[in-house]
Amino acid sequence: MTLTGSWDAAADLVVVGAGVAGLTAATEAVRLGLRVLVVAKDAVDTSTRYAQGGMATATIDDVAAHAEDTVVAGAGLCDPEAVRSVVGDGAAAFAALTALGARFDASADGGVARTREGGHRTARIVHAGGDATGAEIQRVLTAAGPTALTDAVVLSVITGPRGAAGVVVATADPGGALESVGVIRAPAVLLATGGSSMLFATGTNPTGATGDGIALALAAGAEIADVEFVQFHPTVFFAPGGHGRLPLISEALRGEGASLIDQGGRPVVGDAHPLGDLAPRDVVSRAIAARLSDTGATHVLLDARGVPDVARRFPTVTRSCRERGIDPATTPIPVAPAAHYACGGIVTDLAGRTRVPGLFAAGEVARTGLHGANRLASNSLLEGVVLGRRVAAAARERFGTDPTGDPVVPRVARRLDRAVLQAAASAGIGVVRDAAGIDAVRRVAAGAVDRPLTTVRDVEDSALTTLLDATVTAAALRTETRGAHTRRDHPDADPAQCRSLVLSRDDDGALSVRLGDLARRPVPAGVS
Ligand code: SIN
Repeated sequence: MTLTGSWDAAADLVVVGAGVAGLTAATEAVRLGLRVLVVAKDAVDTSTRYAQGGMATATIDDVAAHAEDTVVAGAGLCDPEAVRSVVGDGAAAFAALTALGARFDASADGGVARTREGGHRTARIVHAGGDATGAEIQRVLTAAGPTALTDAVVLSVITGPRGAAGVVVATADPGGALESVGVIRAPAVLLATGGSSMLFATGTNPTGATGDGIALALAAGAEIADVEFVQFHPTVFFAPGGHGRLPLISEALRGEGASLIDQGGRPVVGDAHPLGDLAPRDVVSRAIAARLSDTGATHVLLDARGVPDVARRFPTVTRSCRERGIDPATTPIPVAPAAHYACGGIVTDLAGRTRVPGLFAAGEVARTGLHGANRLASNSLLEGVVLGRRVAAAARERFGTDPTGDPVVPRVARRLDRAVLQAAASAGIGVVRDAAGIDAVRRVAAGAVDRPLTTVRDVEDSALTTLLDATVTAAALRTETRGAHTRRDHPDADPAQCRSLVLSRDDDGALSVRLGDLARRPVPAGVS
């Protein structure tokens, strides 16, 4: 169905999403003289706001080591050029944030405090407010960025002969019912919609993290890749019956001396990896899953009693735990893995360009090749700032392009009920997967039917359904264990499968898969 909207607007760049990548791009684009419109479902409750540990920021003499740690964590699927490029811009990203007024924590000698997290061999992670780094970054970017159109969901990207030409937007009433439909014409569109941990029953992202950008990009003709690599954070607060967004218990606690034990007091990771409790995240989550399966327990414990002055250093974690009756200074914290980060996403180059001219993606929704099969801790805020700035410059190249194209207003979309979808994903494509579980998810996904779009939640469920299709397709094809994709029935990495799976929509709307053409990069022996 092709309709025009009930209102119209125009910009040089439309940014969809108000987290670190979106607002960095918006702020920079305004500085470059572009007219920018930011559209967001919620400008406050972004994934960025919940980021705790910090931003991995190598000093000049540490860039090579940071790149190496990133590649090791990425288990063979990082694009070395992307890694070098993004990691090399760490100091510039830090300077850009401090120029906006971000206050990072200082060390005792008055320099910048740096901590460690999983997979990092040295302390290179800058942080703010102890464990409130994302909140501080969100604070300065929200203050600096252009005003956002909030309570608004993008229904489609307009495309035409010159590529992206704007977006169709629906505003929503306070109950989430869609109201007016509008058209924003622009020659450059940035998808910066964040993550998708709402695909699962438990996760660390806010409720709006439903993979919207993935669905929009596929419909507009862009490619996605590496979507089977869903990173499960090893230490998320465990409470019986917990559902939806659960409190993250920062990995930086282990960087400051906390350790993972089971309920019998035995180490969980132990000698399974040379970095022990600070092994890359996939290794630690797998170790926890194995221990839970061996013991029949629902959770393990993070013992932070030895972390010096834990309440002052980790105020966010301490508050979350105390609200749930646990004081980390005196009692080990019950934790279990939960969905945290989409390592894959919309395929872009190193300036955020997709294969659709004028359509950009940045932040968690994008796949630059930095993360490979498993993102290194605290590389996400870094990537959001670095790519956000580059997108602004690349969007300027589209300045003056005529944004011609027919707006498409979808009235129905194929979707599953959210609870059904989350239960299926958690059971079949969680931390540990196998063919039978993946097949079970495929059968559930096949039951999705076209239903009217009348609320924001309908739009989100349709995006989640698309993401489920894509994730389960890739998970079935990857018959090996690599990074965040663990197959119980294929426990080893298969060098022949050291390629990205790239998905796009056919002309008839079906998902098709091709093998990525990344150069293979051997992973050093003994890791991941
Ligand atoms: C954490 O603080 O453990 C999360 C940091 C990240 O996801 O990179």
